[in-house]
Amino acid sequence: MSLLLGRNTFGNISNIGNLLSKEEAENLFHDWVINPKLQLHMKQVAQLMRCWANEKENLNLNDQWKWEMAGLLHDADWDQWPDLHCKKIIEELENRNIDPEVLHAIASHGPLHFGVEPENKMDKMLYAFDELSGLIHAYSLMRPEGYTGMELKGVKKRLKEKSFAANVSRDDIQDACNRAEINLDELIEFIIPRQAQVF
Ligand SMILES: [Fe+2]
Repeated sequence: MSLLLGRNTFGNISNIGNLLSKEEAENLFHDWVINPKLQLHMKQVAQLMRCWANEKENLNLNDQWKWEMAGLLHDADWDQWPDLHCKKIIEELENRNIDPEVLHAIASHGPLHFGVEPENKMDKMLYAFDELSGLIHAYSLMRPEGYTGMELKGVKKRLKEKSFAANVSRDDIQDACNRAEINLDELIEFIIPRQAQVF
């Protein structure tokens, strides 16, 4: 089944600035996502989005939450409705009158799958963090010491091994870095210590 969304606009511009409260987002997250591995992945991506918005984009707390919320909910429908990923979560957030930028970020987090191009920095960073975060986490699980002492060169080695975390698309990772105009090494070094804080 195709996951193509078949449209490029999401939500309504009159809803700019409308976000879920943290409590509402967490309730939706826990209602929809049961698999603890997927929960962890989504929390990791949320953390990376918030840290990037804060440290690299110097955004205010409200906008940091916007980025974090997009990360927290980007795979919300994957657990129970994989055939409807990411159509279902977008429609849910549209019904809740959520900021169209959040909807667009979620819709464009896999341009090769959903057919929606990442446009702004939030879109591009969600795309960039998604797959790379998963590969780095898989690497932490095979290291006895987890994230402690993890280095760039170890991650790069795993990236080159096509059989390691084979479901992680190396093409998507490189494509995302190109679009975000971010050096892959810098992105890996940004992710390691921040992702280590989420468990
Ligand atoms: Fe994801």
